Amino acid sequence: MADDKNMVGDVYFPAPEVVSAAHISDYDKVHQAATEDLAGFWGKIAAENYEWYKPWETVLDDSNAPFYKWFVNAKVNIIHNALDRHMRTDTRNKAALIFEGEKGDTRVYTYQQLNHEVCKFASVLRSMGIDKGDRVTIYMGRIPELMIAMLACAKIGAMHSVVYGGFSTEALLGRIDDSKSKLLITCDGAWLRGSIIELKHIANEAVDRAGTIQSVICVKRTGHEVKMVSGRDYWYHDLMNLPVADPKAKTEVMDAEDPLFILYTSGTTGKPKAILHTHGGYMVWTSTTLKWVFDIKPEDVWWCAADPGWITGHSYIVYAPLVLGATSFMYEGAPTHPYPDRWWSLVAKYNITILYTAPTAIRGLMRFGRSWPGKHDLSSLRLLGSVGEPINPEAWKWYHRVIGQERCPIMDTWWQTETGGYMITPLPSVPLKPGSATRGFPGIQVDVVDEEGDPVAANEEGYLVIKAPWPGMLRTIFQDPDRYVQQYWSRFAEQGWYLPGDSAKKDEDGYIWVIGRIDDVIKVSGYRLGTAEIESALVSHAAVAEAACIGVPDPNEVKGNIIKAYCILRQGFEPSEKLSMALRDHVGHEMGPIAKPATVEFVDGLPKTRSGKIMRRILKARVMGQDEGDLSTLAD
Ligand code: PRX
Repeated sequence: MADDKNMVGDVYFPAPEVVSAAHISDYDKVHQAATEDLAGFWGKIAAENYEWYKPWETVLDDSNAPFYKWFVNAKVNIIHNALDRHMRTDTRNKAALIFEGEKGDTRVYTYQQLNHEVCKFASVLRSMGIDKGDRVTIYMGRIPELMIAMLACAKIGAMHSVVYGGFSTEALLGRIDDSKSKLLITCDGAWLRGSIIELKHIANEAVDRAGTIQSVICVKRTGHEVKMVSGRDYWYHDLMNLPVADPKAKTEVMDAEDPLFILYTSGTTGKPKAILHTHGGYMVWTSTTLKWVFDIKPEDVWWCAADPGWITGHSYIVYAPLVLGATSFMYEGAPTHPYPDRWWSLVAKYNITILYTAPTAIRGLMRFGRSWPGKHDLSSLRLLGSVGEPINPEAWKWYHRVIGQERCPIMDTWWQTETGGYMITPLPSVPLKPGSATRGFPGIQVDVVDEEGDPVAANEEGYLVIKAPWPGMLRTIFQDPDRYVQQYWSRFAEQGWYLPGDSAKKDEDGYIWVIGRIDDVIKVSGYRLGTAEIESALVSHAAVAEAACIGVPDPNEVKGNIIKAYCILRQGFEPSEKLSMALRDHVGHEMGPIAKPATVEFVDGLPKTRSGKIMRRILKARVMGQDEGDLSTLAD
């Protein structure tokens, strides 16, 4: 990489004009200020940048840790800051959202127009009996109505639970049942790669079996025929045309600590966990991190190319950009449809200034070669971002040279559903090392430690830990506070540290290099999947008695990891290529295409502990040809 003009050795130094123009040009100073007086630091930011119906009494209450509280007894609603307050300024006539569908249809919503739609839909929800604290499941494609639905829930104080549109029946059903949602909002279908994903059909299968859903609202997107159940299902456009759809709906006054949403994510064991975020702290955290890391300025066109169904979309498509009064771009479809230059044509067409995506997408597009981006004028770009998994230096280099044309620093942001927003990340003024997410965001005390919690030597692998609370942290696992404590705070309980579940190294400059998950979570194309969920999908097939799944590096170097499944068959079933294919499809149908194992192998036994727990690390070591480690707990 030495021929790159801003690289010195392995370090990329941002150009002086980038540093001087950045919101934060002196990372060390700000980090030190935040670390020395965490509550004072965040109290000042919260007071200066947002409107509160009533101010807080205490910034941080740690008396009942790890159940931390931020902005205690303040009254606020994130929607007041994301929409309502902009109605009084010039921002109301600015584009909040620019949308392009896969087929090329476009829509622009100014802040005023977006607010109009959100108010109308919020009053529709109220008229259907949705109250503060109720859960609403949203299962949609990447279209503006998804955003409107989320914002409308927040406005009335209902908690949205968005289920990614790539998930299937079982995944949707499990999340509806666990959250006890009263209402499901979906669409007739979503466009992807020129075909329709049958969201309403999948929703029907789930709702028919779900216990709590009373009504379904369906957005017409594709216009193809779908089954609507009379008395249960309503068209979005019909409801929005009723007199009850009031464009002046009131925003519910919430406590800063009231729940904003839950979002399910995979964990070590059992079913997915409902991560809970709040109105106050999440608002402050997501918008401040976006402003400083991506240096958002009034003239930017920000494109977070994630799906709103994941935390990246919640925080950085829906909430933070609106709170900042920024302009976001959203694209519905596949990056390669109809040709592998679709994304690059969009950058040129909309003059995107900041592009934020995942390494898997970069690697996927890199395979088509530089001629595709080469057809388009990418000179509007000034910053690039990466999220979801470690970015390998090859992909970093391509992204930097071919897409960023050596002009755009790459912000490699490490964070999680649980953290709400960026945790380990550069700012535009920070020197970069390709493959490292650099250092903690101001105020985030991050370290790499051994079993005892002692810092490991430079460049040694250890547990990643976060040593102090932050405003955007998850508050609990919905309906399961014990699991919250157990999962995140028990490993280093004595020290009171948060355990993200990743392993990492820290180099001599204090730069963090995240390696990957230490638990039974598999990252496939940046998506977070639990072995437990895939295994239970396999076992739900009549042929399978027991199953184990592991993630191994993708030999094609696109997805990061692929899933390998091992199944013990029930009596009367014989291993065959056909059965292996059928099992893969079964997982696809139950969970969604992203969870399909790359291979399904049939085995007579699985390595287990004496207490019967499957030792996936042994399977993995075998596949990878590595040392199998300590086998003393192995049963057999
Ligand atoms: O393993 C880390 C990886 O993604 C996990 C969190 O996944 P999820 O909750 O789905 O959120 C993804 C989007 C924020 C982490 O525990 N991860 C995320 N970003 C990075 C990363 N690994 C390395 N580098 C990153 N930049």
